[in-house]
Amino acid sequence: MLRSTFIALSQNKSLRSFAERTSLGRKLSSRFVAGMTVEDALAAAESVNRQGMAVTLDALGESVLNESEARRSAEIYYQLLDAIPLRKLNANVSVKLTQMGMDIAPSLAETIVGEMVEHAQRADSFVRIDMEGAQYTEATIAITERLFAKYPGRVGTVLQAYLYRTENDVERLLAQGIRIRLCKGAYKEPAEIAFPQKADVDANYVKLMKRVATSGTFCGLATHDGKIVQQMKEFVREHHLDKSAFEFQMLYGVRRDLQRALVAEGFGVRIYIPFGPEWYPYFMRRLAERPANAIFIAKNLFKN
Ligand code: FDA
Repeated sequence: MLRSTFIALSQNKSLRSFAERTSLGRKLSSRFVAGMTVEDALAAAESVNRQGMAVTLDALGESVLNESEARRSAEIYYQLLDAIPLRKLNANVSVKLTQMGMDIAPSLAETIVGEMVEHAQRADSFVRIDMEGAQYTEATIAITERLFAKYPGRVGTVLQAYLYRTENDVERLLAQGIRIRLCKGAYKEPAEIAFPQKADVDANYVKLMKRVATSGTFCGLATHDGKIVQQMKEFVREHHLDKSAFEFQMLYGVRRDLQRALVAEGFGVRIYIPFGPEWYPYFMRRLAERPANAIFIAKNLFKN
């Protein structure tokens, strides 16, 4: 119930406009969003790297309405890809196709992201294409496959354990050696295409996690679920799995205790660092995942 309320609020235009334009809004978001500028994001990445964790940088923003907006969004990614080697960061980038013009024309998004992947190849980096709502799943996978064929090893995507189709998609991407980030899924999907029960999503996650981690293709296990992380640790021990076969991935500001503990135990950890003035939908999805965060953030706001 609270989850649906936060997801509905994440799409509310007036609340978004109010929140993103006020200093109160920016203060609220600072727990999960690294700042508003490229420089803020790079400083956060340096700090996370110093703690022994790799980084994925995400310039926040979702659907754009015209090509020049899409190209402006891509420009920020060029700045990031150029700064990463200059500042010697252990980092790559994550991008959303809707931010690159997918709702104007999928071919536009493919062209823009293709140019970005080419740029990443020159910078010896990697572009992860985030997965959005189910209306984009097939197109996101197909675009990733075509770009991977052109720029092998330089692009990967995300699969969501809540979708029934994901088991097949895992095999489809692994057959081509395409890197998968496995997550549970952050959007609201109908029971015709997604497991309605959280226990089933979790069980599917564990099953697919074991599959991708033993596939021979490096993968990212994106979750803050302590029980699942524990199961993975046991799986590694029981099967003498090389820890370098995968990395855990977590969001900036979420379960920092678990992030640090995994680093201390010798696991690879990558932190997804979002930044930028268009933080509102991202922030509301984080509250939807854990409504208790709203109370936590409110308490801290009044403390400071
Ligand atoms: P789940 O929500 O089941 O919660 C399990 C436990 O984790 C909770 O009890 C709590 O302890 C902890 N926890 C979870 N979320 C928390 C929060 N916000 N604050 C504090 N504690 C929290 N989704 C998507 O659809 N497309 C994508 O491309 C991505 N990309 C992505 C990258 C990375 C690096 C991560 C970590 C996640 C994503 N996601 C995503 C989001 C993902 O699908 C999912 O919504 C969230 O990770 C929440 O699911 P969990 O597996 O973390 O656990």
